Amino acid sequence: MSLGKIFENKKSDLSKRIDKQKIPEHIAIIMDGNGRWATKKGLPRTYGHKKGVNVLKEIIKVSKKLGCKVLTVYAFSTENWTRPSKEVSFLLNLFSEALSNEIEGIHEESIKIKFIGDLTPFPINLKKIISSSESLTKKNNKFLLNVCVNYGGRQEIVKVAKEIALKSFSGEIEPSEVNEELFNSKLLTQGIKDPELLIRTSGEKRISNFLLWQLAYSEIYISEILWPDFNEFEFLKAIIDYQSRSRRFGGIESLPNESN
Ligand code: IPE
Ligand code: IPE
Ligand code: MG
Repeated sequence: MSLGKIFENKKSDLSKRIDKQKIPEHIAIIMDGNGRWATKKGLPRTYGHKKGVNVLKEIIKVSKKLGCKVLTVYAFSTENWTRPSKEVSFLLNLFSEALSNEIEGIHEESIKIKFIGDLTPFPINLKKIISSSESLTKKNNKFLLNVCVNYGGRQEIVKVAKEIALKSFSGEIEPSEVNEELFNSKLLTQGIKDPELLIRTSGEKRISNFLLWQLAYSEIYISEILWPDFNEFEFLKAIIDYQSRSRRFGGIESLPNESN
């Protein structure tokens, strides 16, 4: 049997184990390990980033097929500017290139694309393509793809705190009116349900300043696979693992034969 065939068989075994009624509506992904993947192969780190784009395309397709509604991916953090400028400009060019190549397909699939983060420092051509992609797809309602770029969870929280402080200072709101609902309504993810599942690839066990507020009760799945090697099979494994979790939200699991 060919390797391809074995992979297909294993994939269909996993598909059968998935509970279609318990697909997370919102999945967040820290797509990590591009550089290590390339270095292991004796290639420049940029090759890993390029390969990573294809993996993202596959994962969008699978998520949509499974019935997931929102995918939020971490593409560039506020801390990633500290990388060598050559790598940073490669990444920014890659974002423009990938977006121009893929936007028609994204639109045809009725996917809405949104960029989350502070876009101000980006080159004008990237800002233009981001804005045209968002407006082209803004009415699409089959699936939402959030791409976090120049995104940092702490920066997002500080931004919200500043906005609320200003409103309070000007007398628009009373300090006593500050609550979670108000805070939520000012986040960059405003109106989007929190992710039920966070996947991080490459085995790192940290959040790296991603969605600090929104991940408060997300289930975390760490995959040892480097992002460029991640695929449908590994993604299905993450969902099956998620489906086996008991989500208690600080409460206790209700036991059979117990009324309270
Ligand atoms: C993730 O892969 C992509 C970005 C952060 C842009 P890395 O580039 O962090 O790859 P590793 O973690 O160094 O292998
Ligand atoms: C997190 O990965 C950011 C993205 C995947 C875009 P990093 O590679 O930047 O995070 P650290 O440095 O391992 O924490
Ligand atoms: Mg990394």
